[in-house]
Amino acid sequence: MAKEKYIYGNWKMNHLKSDLYEFFEDLASILELKCHKGITPQSLHLPLAIELSRPLGIQIGAQNCSHKKVGAFTGEISTKAIFEAGATFTLVGHSERRHLFFEKNDLLNEKVKAALSENLEVVFCIGETLEERQKNQTFDVLKKQLSEGLKDIPKEFFSKIILAYEPVWAIGTGQVATPEQADETHQLIRQYMENELQFSKEEVIILYGGSVKPSNAKDLLSMSNIDGALVGGASLKGQDFLELCKIAHTLAL
Ligand code: PGA
Repeated sequence: MAKEKYIYGNWKMNHLKSDLYEFFEDLASILELKCHKGITPQSLHLPLAIELSRPLGIQIGAQNCSHKKVGAFTGEISTKAIFEAGATFTLVGHSERRHLFFEKNDLLNEKVKAALSENLEVVFCIGETLEERQKNQTFDVLKKQLSEGLKDIPKEFFSKIILAYEPVWAIGTGQVATPEQADETHQLIRQYMENELQFSKEEVIILYGGSVKPSNAKDLLSMSNIDGALVGGASLKGQDFLELCKIAHTLAL
């Protein structure tokens, strides 16, 4: 039997409470679908999302977390509070955090460590810009993001890290990487994780992100190096998210 794929939705700064009720309505059939499901709502909505998703087997995570555990860090959200709320994971290093909020690899490394030490899984996002791709720098950029972002992580935490490869030029642009392009990059990342960072084969899980939607998900998720999808825009509606999970389910059979 094939491994279960991941469908993780990143809602970014969208949705109000009423949208959450609407999203989780009529998703009862999602429970039977064989795939790992996750959603990252805005932090204020974590408790409500956790409550509404509980009967549906959907993991809830944060979109970001502080690099420090406690203290004078106005406006930040600690990994302790995220865990206490009942979330099971957090994104770290999403390209919007890297580019709009100037988060660098060393800060992201601290965030990864803060999250792992609070028992949260980490979805660590990496990806190159269009300019970097055009200059043939893609793999160098990804290697740097991985080696610096995952520096000095004890081996016992490796199974709690999921990678999301999200080419910046494909996020929210409608311009999706071809399945072959994505698969080829995932393969390079996989080799790097195994050979340089000493992850075992099973520990390397890589989601693809960037304009994934129901109409292109099957081709992307069918590729052998793509373990799932991190989905922005197309995860906002319950029916689209359900559709993506159905596609993942058929590939796990
Ligand atoms: P998108 O976003 O699916 O809307 O391109 C993906 C992401 O930012 O994680």
